[in-house]
Order: sequence, then structure tokens, then C-alpha cells
Amino acid sequence: MKLFLTGITGAVGMELARWIALNTPKARVYALIRAPSPVVLMARWKKLAAKLWPDPLARPPEGQFIPVLGDISRPGLGLSPEDAARLAGEVTHVLHSAANVELDAPLPEARQANVDGTRHVFDVVRTFPRLERAGYVSTLFVAGQRPGRFLETDAVHEAGFVNPYEQSKYEAEHLVRGLMKELPLSIYRLAYLIGRDDGEVARYNSMHSLMRLFYEGHVGAFPGTPESRMDLSSTDYVASALLTLFLGHFEPGRTWHLGNGDGALRLQDFIDTMTEVSAETERRWAQGVFLPPDVVDEDTYTLLRRTLLQTQNPRSHEVIRLGDTMYGHLLAAQVFDTRSVHALIGEQVKPPPPRRLLRDVLRHCVATGWGRNRS
Ligand SMILES: NC(=O)c1ccc[n+]([C@@H]2O[C@H](COP(=O)([O-])OP(=O)(O)OC[C@H]3O[C@@H](n4cnc5c(N)ncnc54)[C@H](OP(=O)(O)O)[C@@H]3O)[C@@H](O)[C@H]2O)c1
Repeated sequence: MKLFLTGITGAVGMELARWIALNTPKARVYALIRAPSPVVLMARWKKLAAKLWPDPLARPPEGQFIPVLGDISRPGLGLSPEDAARLAGEVTHVLHSAANVELDAPLPEARQANVDGTRHVFDVVRTFPRLERAGYVSTLFVAGQRPGRFLETDAVHEAGFVNPYEQSKYEAEHLVRGLMKELPLSIYRLAYLIGRDDGEVARYNSMHSLMRLFYEGHVGAFPGTPESRMDLSSTDYVASALLTLFLGHFEPGRTWHLGNGDGALRLQDFIDTMTEVSAETERRWAQGVFLPPDVVDEDTYTLLRRTLLQTQNPRSHEVIRLGDTMYGHLLAAQVFDTRSVHALIGEQVKPPPPRRLLRDVLRHCVATGWGRNRS
């Protein structure tokens, strides 16, 4: 396999790289990395390799991973003519994971990376004569505000979106589905990723910001019901499941859901787990000064939100800003159907139990000062 991989420096890409190095030692990976110059590209790659494989003896052999300078926001990915020719001459497999995952990026910005970027990637990929298969990394949250059970076959809806990020990913999926007529392509929709199986966090995202505000006692209420689901998973799980499906069960035109499905965390379990673990290290939780947030209906939350906006408390405003980009999913009472993936590879690759994962991630966040004390 000669794999062209985008997004290797991201939370998902790093885990894909680790899995490939461990499980497919004969594969060669051309990893697209953005950098202002070849010198910076090599410096970024060296830093990344040291982070991925801290033990030099465990590093993949020289030449298994080849950094390639490029930027998905540019037509032709900004590849040099030499790199473009080399990729076209060699690549057999493609995984496109690079994206802008900021939930509150303005829509034009999100579209530039996620829709235009995806178009640029596959404009280049369609020139690869040896291409055998390609995968596009998407999100379960292309479901937007569509309520209820969301199937792998569900592709189009008019329910609207909770944030511009998921709208841009929905539009990118539409683009990718159009390309399936001419390219062997499958789509992998991932759950919300909060860390590695052991709790380590490679890249902090909006969920960690919300967890931190919760830990610091600033979250008073969530909208929804105690049964509302939060499909949280680990980067190890999605990387391992994605590559198991991509390499062992590839089906062009297919969409796969990688998450917990019916086993997704209940909102009440999220609150209880956060409360229990917070009490281990934060005195005010242990002494009952901080109280677990309530779960309230939409109208009550709207009133509460309005009241909090009238205060001058920047923390409350931060909670509202984050909530505005996330809580719509709690109100939509969604379940992302994962039955076919669990039936096909569930014995081989299992998602970590979400309560255990949340507990370990929160402990890690607290122990590392929310990323500040990382070595
Ligand atoms: N994290 C989640 O919870 C989650 C959930 C569901 C789906 N996903 C999907 O999984 C994929 C990977 O997400 P992630 O969590 O790994 O994101 P991430 O940690 O933010 O990493 C994003 C990656 O994309 C790269 N990238 C962004 N813009 C680029 C550009 N213009 N040119 C080249 N590379 C660019 C970044 O490179 P730099 O290092 O240069 O910034 C980085 O490698 C995305 O498609 C995302 O939609 C993620």
C-alpha cells in the first residue's frame, strides 16, 4: 500500500499514523503537512515523529513515512511538480482527514477548509492512475439537528445545523458522494473524540473547554433530558476501526458510523461521571459548594440563557457560547446507528466504555493543568 494521508498532525491523523506503523509495516505513507518551507516541513515532521514514537527504537523505519509539503486550501494542494508527479506515480490508497474542526468558525472559513479543501484533495487524487481506494473522514454530526436515529444511509436532511463546522462537513460529504460515481470512495463518520483510550489528550477541543468550565463550577444546566445522548469516543478506537474497515472490508460508495451507537453516554451519566471525578481533586465539588448541573427542557434553558447573557460574567458567556455550538444535539435526542460496524468488526475492535473514557480523560486534563503542564 502507498497511502496519501492528509491531516497527520491532527488528533485523528496521529492515531492513524500510529496504527499504520504498528500494523502495516510494509506500507509507505505520503503525509501532506503544511509548512512555509521544506526546512520547516522537516522540522514539523521530526517533532511529530518524536511525539508519536517517543521511544526511538519503536520508530518506523526511515522512509516509511514521507512528509509532503502542501495545503488543502490551495488548488493542486500547492504541491511542487516533483511531489505531484511522485504521488501520481505511486499512490494506491488515500485517506483525507485534514479539516478545520473549530465548531464556531464562520461558515465561509469552515467551507474553505472542509468543502473547497476536500474538492482540492480529490481533484488531485483523480489524477492518480494507480488508485485502488480512498476514504473521506467525516463526522456523525452531519446529522445536524435531525432528531432520532441517524443511519449510515441517511445523507440528506433539511433539519438545519447546530454549528457551521457540521454544515461544512455535510456539504463536503455531498461533494464526496458525487465523486463516488468516478472514484472508489467510502465515508467514515466519527463520534466526538475526547482523547486516547488511556485518557491522554493530543489536541484540546470544544468538549474539553466545556468539561473545564464544568469542573470549575460554571455550568448550571444542560438542555435536553437525562436520556439525551453524547456519543464520545477515543482517537485510538476510531483510527483502529477506520483502518480495519478501510483495509479489510472496503466497499466503494459505503458510509460507516464509528461510535457507540445505542451504547452512547447518557447526559445524566456525563453529569454524574464529571461530578464524581471532579470531587476527587476539587475541594468545592467534594464539599458540595459546587452542585451538579440540572437537566432542563428547552424553554427553561432559553430563559436561563437569556438571564445569564444579561450578567457581566465572562465565564457564563463562555458556557453559553460553547453550548450554542453543541447543545442542539442534546435537544435532538439523537442516536447514531453503529450496528453494522459493530456486527462486522465488533469482536476485533471495541469502542472504550464511554464513562471510563470520560473519567480517564478528565483525570488527565486535571493532572496536566488542561494541557498547560505537558512535557
Ligand atoms: N476531533 C473530533 O472530535 C472529530 C469528530 C468527528 C470527526 N472528526 C473529523 O476527523 C478529521 C480529523 O479531525 P481532527 O480531530 O484530527 O482535527 P485536528 O486535530 O484539528 O487536526 C486537523 C488536521 O488537519 C490539518 N489541516 C487543517 N487545515 C489544513 C490545510 N489547509 N492544509 C493541510 N492540512 C490542514 C491540520 O494541520 P495543522 O497541524 O497544520 O493545523 C491537522 O493535521 C476531520 O475531518 C474531522 O472533521 C473529528
